[in-house]
Amino acid sequence: MNFSLSEEHRMAREAARDFAQTELRPGVIQRDTLQEFPDNLVKKMGALGFMGIMVDPKYGGSGMDTISYVLIMEELSKVDASASVIVSVNNSLVCYGLETYGTESQKEKYLTKLATGEYIGAFCLSEPEAGSDATSQQTTAIDHGDHYVINGTKNWITSGGRSDVYLVIAQTDRSKGSKGINAFIVEKGMSGFEIGPKEDKLGIRGSDTHTLQFNDVKVPKENRIGADGFGFKFAMKTLSGGRIGIAAQALGIASGAYELALAYSQQRKAFGTEICNHQAIAFKLADMATDIEAARHMVMKAAWDKNQGVSYDTSSAMAKLFASKIAMEHTVEAVQIHGGNGFVKDYHVERLMRDAKITQIYEGTSEIQKMVISRSILKN
Ligand code: CAA
Repeated sequence: MNFSLSEEHRMAREAARDFAQTELRPGVIQRDTLQEFPDNLVKKMGALGFMGIMVDPKYGGSGMDTISYVLIMEELSKVDASASVIVSVNNSLVCYGLETYGTESQKEKYLTKLATGEYIGAFCLSEPEAGSDATSQQTTAIDHGDHYVINGTKNWITSGGRSDVYLVIAQTDRSKGSKGINAFIVEKGMSGFEIGPKEDKLGIRGSDTHTLQFNDVKVPKENRIGADGFGFKFAMKTLSGGRIGIAAQALGIASGAYELALAYSQQRKAFGTEICNHQAIAFKLADMATDIEAARHMVMKAAWDKNQGVSYDTSSAMAKLFASKIAMEHTVEAVQIHGGNGFVKDYHVERLMRDAKITQIYEGTSEIQKMVISRSILKN
């Protein structure tokens, strides 16, 4: 067992840390307040290779491994979880899904642009009545020979108003249950595809979350991903990797809040000494540091499983469950350590606390992660 990072891993982490501190940090409060999407920063992240981290260089990607991916995700998320969710969805759901299950022509047409940041991708599974219960898709994709016609509504779609490529999961044959579901590539601008209202969210406010409407959208058959009926497995397999990205995001939010709380506690004085010298604060810091270390090991283990080509369904669910839980708990503690200053925007921790909550909800709620984990325990 080897816990050390390679030179390549350290370089990836340094590049992300530097970008987060110099480029993401300056405007992060404004983007959160005004719900501004970081268009220019996404382009810069594309130029740095962050939009296609694990994609083969022959498709324009960076060719890095999953460890590098989680290191980059942690560093970006310490500062700006809105920017990092754009990165996570583009990498683990859209690029990974297309690279692993797409045809050569789908990869040439879409992946090459998604991996460089020229295009942004969205993953469209959730619906008003099918969030956790993903087999209950109401959106239909009816087979018309050389094309499908898609009708329905998707909601809470990350980068929904800003994407060029949308991977859409829809029901083709309801009688077949999960085996009657397909996944399609829908392009921005296809006739009948409409972008609905933007959500006004508690956190990750710099990301762009929309409802999408599909009204008789004609999608050529060559845009179906995988064989007929593969859509549900496609969604589950991509989401397993997505959960590693969101676990790393939660870890970053927790460690970002911890670093701010530690620094604050070492300069803020009360009762004649820096507040870190009071055991009430020192013990909070000890709990935070311990949980963050544990979460980091779990995130790395899930990433390592994926690199090794062994199943990561359970390790990714465990990493997401734990990292999102401690992100929520410790961002609250970071606000507490900051006292009144923690309650105002300038100190960043209140934003991290708001951003933490979504990590317990998207890409499967904590309850869904427990379903995945308990099923894997009980079947063995
Ligand atoms: N890999 C491969 N196949 C899988 C799989 C996996 N990880 N998980 C399930 N399957 C297969 C099963 O083996 C089964 O196949 P067979 O019929 O051949 O045996 C089939 O899929 C159906 O599986 P289940 O019976 O287990 O399905 P279920 O209805 O009980 O649901 C679930 C399982 C885990 C609860 C699933 O519905 C789920 O993950 N729900 C949460 C969905 C989710 O994460 N939504 C988030 C939206 S995306 C998002 O948030 C992105 C964003 O913008 C940030």
